[in-house]
Amino acid sequence: MEIKECIKGRRSVRKYAYEKIEREVIETMVKAGQYAPSWKNSQTPRYYAAITEEGIEAVRTCLPDFNAERTEGVGAYIITTAKKGRSGCNSNGEYFSHLGNGYECFDNGLAVENMILYAHSIGYSTLIMGLFDEPSLRQLLDVPSDEDIVVVIAVGKRDIDPQRPERKATESVLKIF
Ligand SMILES: Cc1cc2nc3c(=O)[nH]c(=O)nc-3n(C[C@H](O)[C@H](O)[C@H](O)COP(=O)(O)O)c2cc1C
Repeated sequence: MEIKECIKGRRSVRKYAYEKIEREVIETMVKAGQYAPSWKNSQTPRYYAAITEEGIEAVRTCLPDFNAERTEGVGAYIITTAKKGRSGCNSNGEYFSHLGNGYECFDNGLAVENMILYAHSIGYSTLIMGLFDEPSLRQLLDVPSDEDIVVVIAVGKRDIDPQRPERKATESVLKIF
């Protein structure tokens, strides 16, 4: 798939037809994420994936009802976390950029975009979710205290062809001088 077609064609999908996802698909999605640039190549994103029925159900219990309903039937949930104290930090582990710890989430977003575009290019749809019960998810996945949970990504076969939500006019968000 052409990169332009992939970028334009990807959609957040909120209705899925159940299909099991093999671990190889998850592994290649994560590899795509790992190709993303990161602060000093610090590679702070970490990944947790549920692909079994029990795992998927357990993650669903950590989602608010609306996100659980929107992702019923997905074949996987991938949770990304950000290792703290590296991205945007000096060699003493102190944040020293104007964004504080912002580059941790920035690096995570770059990885996630690679992952969802790759998924789209091989026929899987995704939904990024920023709303979940963080303490329950942290306990379920046994996430260490030096990682921040960033997003839950639902991955599956779409059962709907959603319209592209409108984007702002480029002139309204771009200043060239
Ligand atoms: C950080 C982040 C968090 C999001 N959280 C949710 C969410 O909790 N539930 C949901 O249905 N969509 C969520 N979305 C999806 C956005 O609503 C969606 O990307 C946006 O409406 C644009 O649609 P598109 O992805 O199809 O281009 C999230 C997206 C991002 C980037």
